[in-house]
Amino acid sequence: MQSNNTTTPVALVTGASRGIGQALALGFADAGYDVIVTDLPQTEGDLRKTAEMIGLRNRKAYLYTLDVSEREQINDVARRALEEAGRIDVLVNNAGVLKLSLLQDLDEKTWDTHFDVNVKGVLMMCQAIVPHMRERKSGRVINIASIAGRQGVALQGHYAATKSAVITLTRVLAQEVGMDGVTVNAICPGIILTEMGRNNLGSEAAVRHWEEVAALKRLGKPEDIVGPALFFASEQSDFVTGQALNVCGGIYFH
Ligand SMILES: NC(=O)c1ccc[n+]([C@@H]2O[C@H](COP(=O)([O-])OP(=O)(O)OC[C@H]3O[C@@H](n4cnc5c(N)ncnc54)[C@H](O)[C@@H]3O)[C@@H](O)[C@H]2O)c1
Repeated sequence: MQSNNTTTPVALVTGASRGIGQALALGFADAGYDVIVTDLPQTEGDLRKTAEMIGLRNRKAYLYTLDVSEREQINDVARRALEEAGRIDVLVNNAGVLKLSLLQDLDEKTWDTHFDVNVKGVLMMCQAIVPHMRERKSGRVINIASIAGRQGVALQGHYAATKSAVITLTRVLAQEVGMDGVTVNAICPGIILTEMGRNNLGSEAAVRHWEEVAALKRLGKPEDIVGPALFFASEQSDFVTGQALNVCGGIYFH
């Protein structure tokens, strides 16, 4: 989005060390944003590479390790990031986990981890950063959900439930903060060939199968998520809020 003054706009991306999060961080840098990149402490080496690539694009990168399921860490990082970067115009809640399991076999720990990261993480990030946006009467929240959250997929019942919850949080938060100039939207990727996407598919045969199913006859690259995210971040989407957009090459249509 455009800044209210001439200062460079700032985007914060969670889970930015690889996959969709890294592509989004670089995509925002290419679009002229300085980028706050965060991810788990054990990913710090890769997160530094993301930050370096942002630097090569002549944009500023601010790097913080952060587990989005830990409220204290979130509040600490939000405070430090706002101090250092001065503002956060766009919050991209991208961090997520997926471990396959039949519902029948699902243990409570796996259920809890998925909800702690995929849902509570989104909620707590919004709680930490949206008040700053409301104060400034301007801001964009972009939540990375999934078409699984619309359709439900075998072996992903717990994951799909978290992503349905993210879509609902998106709709509700949009209604609660719209009066202060903050929009909240979700992107529902289809199958994107990241570490998570490949683990999910499990085999090259499955990749071929889904390529055939897709209207566009291919599966997604992390970069395919960048354009829709920049749209939700930009003035072009000023009148769009509480929506969830499928970005899936035509494998799901509702
Ligand atoms: N790849 C797909 O096919 C696909 C499809 C639909 C939705 N998505 C969603 O897109 C987002 C990105 O997925 P991806 O494919 O790039 O996956 P990925 O596994 O490659 O990356 C996920 C990132 O999230 C980070 N992360 C995990 N737990 C975290 C935590 N507790 N705190 C902070 N960071 C944490 C990981 O370290 C990693 O960098 C996720 O929310 C995922 O659910 C992916």
